[in-house]
Amino acid sequence: MKYKRILLKLSGESLMGDKQFGIDNNRIDSYAKQIKEICEAGVEVAIVIGGGNIFRGVQAEEGGMDRTHGDYMGMLATMINSMALQAALESNGVNTRLQSAIEMKEICEPFARRRAVRHLEKGRVVIFGAGTGNPYFTTDSAASLRAIEINADVILKGTRVDGIYTADPFKDPTATKYETISFEDVYKKDLKIMDMTAFTLCNENNLPIIVFDMDTPGNLKKLLDGEKIGTVVIN
Ligand code: GTP
Repeated sequence: MKYKRILLKLSGESLMGDKQFGIDNNRIDSYAKQIKEICEAGVEVAIVIGGGNIFRGVQAEEGGMDRTHGDYMGMLATMINSMALQAALESNGVNTRLQSAIEMKEICEPFARRRAVRHLEKGRVVIFGAGTGNPYFTTDSAASLRAIEINADVILKGTRVDGIYTADPFKDPTATKYETISFEDVYKKDLKIMDMTAFTLCNENNLPIIVFDMDTPGNLKKLLDGEKIGTVVIN
């Protein structure tokens, strides 16, 4: 396998599948099966998942809610998705541990870096819930932070598009895909991959990011097999 330890970032929205809200069982099961495939191949897998299918802090702020309050609600939304993914993985026979950045010890373990690493070494999938535990940070920032903390080889950012394009491929039909791009060029060209906090954390710690289409079954395994899937951001 191309990488030994990965941090997989999944978006909350993509869990909706064709639904308008919440969690689509087929979609989450398809993610679980893809993850199982790479675990069986010996890859150590940690996961951070967003919460946008359930609640978005930014939109709550537009409605007049205090930003920090909305952000904490968003962190709880990520816990719901994390628990759903944990259940889907376990029903597919994958051992998991869920750790939360906000203590809720009746539901899961509190985040403990060394313990998370131990779980990974034992072949368990570790899901990190509740973002970083702080408002004003996105789940992309949580993914970057946790990836660095556990010494992951790469962040795999699963999205609906199959990589990074010169322009938005949904709006501009002439847009072309990058196979590889440097951190510096992403800044220069002002490409939107992650928010800047998350992106800079990866850059400063030399952590490559791969943006790829997770909604096409089999892509995750192909990527780890070394096939040219998605776009690699690297220094
Ligand atoms: P090893 O000791 O390395 O084998 O790891 P382990 O996770 O099996 O250890 P432990 O015996 O501590 O955990 C057994 C189960 O309890 C696991 O499913 C853990 O996720 C769960 N667990 C551990 N700590 C907590 C906690 O603080 N709260 C909750 N809700 N569950 C916990």
